Amino acid sequence: MAVVLRTPAVGHDRRERSRSPPHIVNNHDKDPQLDAVITCSSVLDWLKPECDAFRGMVVPRSQTWDHAQHFLDRLYSRVVNFGVVDESESLMEIVPLFDGASESKLGVQLDAAAQRLLSPLVQHGLPADLAAQIRMDVAEAGPVVARLLPNAAELMLKLELTRENICGRWHMDNYVGRAIVSYNCAATVHVHDDFVDFERFEIDRTDICRGPNEYVIRARKAIRSAGVGNILFIKGMLFPSRVNGLVHEAPDKLHRHDCSVATRLILKADEWAAQGTTLFITVDRAVGGMMLLEDTVRGDARAAVAQLKALGVQPALLTGDNEEAGRRAAAAAGIETVHARGRAGHL
Ligand SMILES: [Fe+2]
Repeated sequence: MAVVLRTPAVGHDRRERSRSPPHIVNNHDKDPQLDAVITCSSVLDWLKPECDAFRGMVVPRSQTWDHAQHFLDRLYSRVVNFGVVDESESLMEIVPLFDGASESKLGVQLDAAAQRLLSPLVQHGLPADLAAQIRMDVAEAGPVVARLLPNAAELMLKLELTRENICGRWHMDNYVGRAIVSYNCAATVHVHDDFVDFERFEIDRTDICRGPNEYVIRARKAIRSAGVGNILFIKGMLFPSRVNGLVHEAPDKLHRHDCSVATRLILKADEWAAQGTTLFITVDRAVGGMMLLEDTVRGDARAAVAQLKALGVQPALLTGDNEEAGRRAAAAAGIETVHARGRAGHL
């Protein structure tokens, strides 16, 4: 059997720890140890140390929006016809996390981003109560996702109206983490590692001649759904803990009476990188790829800085990069003072 190496922890976990354990409200009737996702009573529980042992966290909620299916199908046609969304079937906003922003400032930024995402959809018929729910979900989950990854520079919010743009293969996300809500149709499905054939999983992931993806799972009865309307957090392979990389898959498409694919509305809050600067490559307004940039410090920099300090000079690092990237480079060079996000005229 092939050995699959988990991505080691990166960075330091500076999460605030609560003393009370998460309120586990609905673990499955089978062995809860064989559930890769812990069930929590609120998204704030995601910050508790008990979640470290799981590859994902979910908050069950009773509200679903299947009654809005007709409006969502009509909305899909309108936004595609008017060019509001393209073949990516999604709208996206980037929220910066490192501007020395307080929690309240982050809340304002998240809400503004949520309103920008929702505005064109509301104009074309998204029900007002569903828009209000999405706005509340961004306000609730966004700050918690940001606190889960205190080193991350930005949060990407996405609203997706999907029909065809679904990757129906078992996988682990090759980035840090994602909070996701499926408001109707069906939700993300996941499985515990004990039921994954990782030899087939690796072949399926890397081989062009991939076989039927379903054989990756040893026992289909072990597959569990996050649940429509629930808030799921998926730890990606770069999530900074020893237990990460939830094996999951998008749900099967649902079809309407006329055999057309039913529109599924999804909210995502993503963190791609726990460090560095992320560049998104877009093709015709859709994200086609991303690059992570990180400065390295020359090997003799620390000694040079030490010599300057010995002469009574207090060096400072000036950078046009974000504050977190600047802090890391300064720490590597032995510099305490950082001025980040500078422009050419300021440096
Ligand atoms: Fe995924």
